[in-house]
Amino acid sequence: MSISIRPAKAEDRAAALEAEKKATPRLSYLGAVYDDWREEPEGALLVAEHDKEVVAVGKFTVVPDGSAWLEALRVRPDRQGLGIGKAFYERFLALAEEKKIHTLRMYTGVKNETSRGLAERFGFSLAAQFSGFTFPLDKKPVEEAEGNFVFLTPKEAAKKAPKMQKNWGPYAVMNRTFYKTSVELMSDWAGRGFVYADEKTGALAVLGARFLPAAGLHLAMFSPENEKALAFARQTTYQRGLPSLYCMVLTCRQDVKDFLQEAGGLQDFADCLVMEKNT
Ligand SMILES: CC(C)(COP(=O)(O)OP(=O)(O)OC[C@H]1O[C@@H](n2cnc3c(N)ncnc32)[C@H](O)[C@@H]1OP(=O)(O)O)[C@@H](O)C(=O)NCCC(=O)NCCS
Repeated sequence: MSISIRPAKAEDRAAALEAEKKATPRLSYLGAVYDDWREEPEGALLVAEHDKEVVAVGKFTVVPDGSAWLEALRVRPDRQGLGIGKAFYERFLALAEEKKIHTLRMYTGVKNETSRGLAERFGFSLAAQFSGFTFPLDKKPVEEAEGNFVFLTPKEAAKKAPKMQKNWGPYAVMNRTFYKTSVELMSDWAGRGFVYADEKTGALAVLGARFLPAAGLHLAMFSPENEKALAFARQTTYQRGLPSLYCMVLTCRQDVKDFLQEAGGLQDFADCLVMEKNT
């Protein structure tokens, strides 16, 4: 039995998508990002060959705070338990060392004991737990939002970052990518057109999609005028004709969870865990 991990090629696409479809039948997005991820200069989209057949995929991403984000690890079920996941982690850790990256993170569902156990085996430990809320819009008109939200430039967003970080907490989530909040992250997001503020009330919202923009928007942070920021996010999602708005918050932030629930957010059945390793 031989296992080798190597960069994904264009011609591995079908096999990689097949691994994703079979490993996580209810969560498929690799097709939308496959080419972009292959071309990312800092990251690495990898596949595993088992006995010369491509049977697994995984991605090493460098996020704006300079840490590594391990994502989309999928091993075809008929080849699970053979050491392929471990081979990916070995490669991820080698890449981090090569790039002088000292913090690595990944996420998994609270019930995914294999994924958590695999991360723990390589020295990752629990950093935080998150609860997700969906606001289905069903193309129904939403109430008009108050205020006049405008884009912030990266410089403006960077200035607001420390206060935002204090109000919101240490992580912000977009497309289930769990970012450590930082000045770099806020200016990166502003550069992508995700950071909005209403100067009159001071309300701030980070709203966007890292990928799959047609599937809905993600409200990654909002503060301190919660009602106004959420109303703006819902209205924007509706105006773009998108099906839903999604927001993940730290499970320990009961105040924010209550607010989202009272506003009509539907809580996910299972929370997510972020695991972290520092070298
Ligand atoms: C999670 C996944 C990537 C693991 O890949 P794999 O190739 O099956 O894993 P490996 O055989 O390399 O490693 C298995 C390791 O996981 C850990 N593990 C497995 N089952 C476990 C369990 N029930 N409890 C705790 N740890 C467990 C162990 O550390 C084990 O290594 P060991 O047997 O030497 O102790 C794979 O099962 C998968 O694709 N699952 C579906 C998608 C998924 O959950 N992706 C993860 C991110 S959400």
